[in-house]
Amino acid sequence: MELEMDKLVSLCKRRGFIFPSSEVYGGINGFWDYGPLGVELKRNIKDAWWRDNVQMRDDMVGLDCSIIMNPRVWEASGHVGGFSDPMVDCRATKERYRADQMYVFAYVFPATNSKGEPTEAWLAGLGGSPEEAAEPVEKRAAKLAKKFGKPADPPVVTPYLQIAADDRIKVVGPSTDETGTLTEPRSFNLMFKTFVGALESESNVAYLRPETAQGIFANFKNVVDTARVKLPFGIAQVGKSFRNEINPRNFTFRSREFEQMEIEFFCRPEEAKDWYKYWRDLRFAWYTGLGLKSEKLRLRDHDPEELAFYSTATADIEYAFPFGVSELEGIAHRGAYDLTQHMKFSGKDLSYFDEEKKERFTPHVIEPSAGADRATLAFLCEAYVEDEVAGETRTVLKFHPRIAPVKAAVFPLVKRDGMPEKAEAIYRELKRSQNVYYDEKGAIGRRYRRQDEAGTPFCITIDSQTATDDTVTFRDRDSCRQWRVPAAGAVQALRDLLDGKAVPGAE
Ligand code: GAP
Repeated sequence: MELEMDKLVSLCKRRGFIFPSSEVYGGINGFWDYGPLGVELKRNIKDAWWRDNVQMRDDMVGLDCSIIMNPRVWEASGHVGGFSDPMVDCRATKERYRADQMYVFAYVFPATNSKGEPTEAWLAGLGGSPEEAAEPVEKRAAKLAKKFGKPADPPVVTPYLQIAADDRIKVVGPSTDETGTLTEPRSFNLMFKTFVGALESESNVAYLRPETAQGIFANFKNVVDTARVKLPFGIAQVGKSFRNEINPRNFTFRSREFEQMEIEFFCRPEEAKDWYKYWRDLRFAWYTGLGLKSEKLRLRDHDPEELAFYSTATADIEYAFPFGVSELEGIAHRGAYDLTQHMKFSGKDLSYFDEEKKERFTPHVIEPSAGADRATLAFLCEAYVEDEVAGETRTVLKFHPRIAPVKAAVFPLVKRDGMPEKAEAIYRELKRSQNVYYDEKGAIGRRYRRQDEAGTPFCITIDSQTATDDTVTFRDRDSCRQWRVPAAGAVQALRDLLDGKAVPGAE
């Protein structure tokens, strides 16, 4: 089944996963709010990341840095000077586009003008790749073909930035039918600026951090001096980052406010290559272990020409979203670049002294940098399934139990004969350790469907048999299988199921 993005966006809204930010005022482009189910899902993903990458390891510590830092940090990191995208404005529609994500499709139609020349149309389309940009352009070209005849050849496709400056005048922008409305590409810094203190002066300018990573580098010495860490070790941070993206799009995929989950792993220079491979493979396995199992998840090593000048290797973990294959996480071998830059700009010694080898050097860094919102979106896309149950189509989110927002729902079959009391007692007991849900309203089938849509892996129903043999019905979300469990063992059975252990009757 090919997922349509519109269906997922509408489910997210309808069931309270993700809402447009400040929607009652018409929203604000590039900002999103997580609703009651969404906040649980995203928190479970961040918790799983922290548990697996920090808590379970002996070589990792955590950090939580401020969002606004001394602006010199961003000079040292290169963000003030170079963190920009080329942008183009449309004079006619006032739209703004990323020039590096615009492709020009040059069509030649059979109809000729008064000079006997064929009719040309250079249509611009937006997308992360020519394939992504092609779809809306093809629709526009089909309309022109009605007027000028069907072109004999497919259009020549050129990235907008590679079009000769003199030829840009011929391009028809993505949201107009006119030529010559696009401005020259200009560089646009993505950092959000603000002022610290009462005066809005240049000397008080500060930035909302565009990544969490620099807080880690700036605290490298503090951590080494206080946490008794020895190389190799990593520092992890989860937190908000802000980028004034020119074209926020594809739901939460490219937002202006988002959360990152970043690790800076410090090691001896001669060991960095091996640690890079280790993290690249481990991070890929983390996603598959949480249910991103399909061939939609990919690991792509960067070609040498894609690498930043200080990096000897970088890989992206990508996911084939309905809108195209796009990055979830980057794993970069950054050498000693960041610590060296901060030493240069701060004048402080950020080198490391190896007590055993009696050697001083600047550690190398491997950086696995993930986005919590992009991971959440990928898990939503992967989980979304429409299947048929008892002759009816149902929508179900097949989340891995670790990340499912609600772990179980407890229902009394009917609101009498002591069933609600018994159900509530089980619900209260479960709630002490899990996020569970109680529902006594409506037909049982409808209650199951509602939980399927929320991605709840198990339902527990107290029915008439409970009064005779003190057992309850467990139901599995994916297979819809039902089996009975002694009421006294329901809490333990759920725990075991969530831990992936075998439970009698469940298999
Ligand atoms: N410190 C390295 C760094 O920030 P990045 O590739 O720019 O690298 C890392 O960002 C991750 O942060 C991305 O793989 C993505 O998951 C997430 N991310 C970046 N920009 C984003 C945006 N505008 N919206 C949502 N997530 C974003």
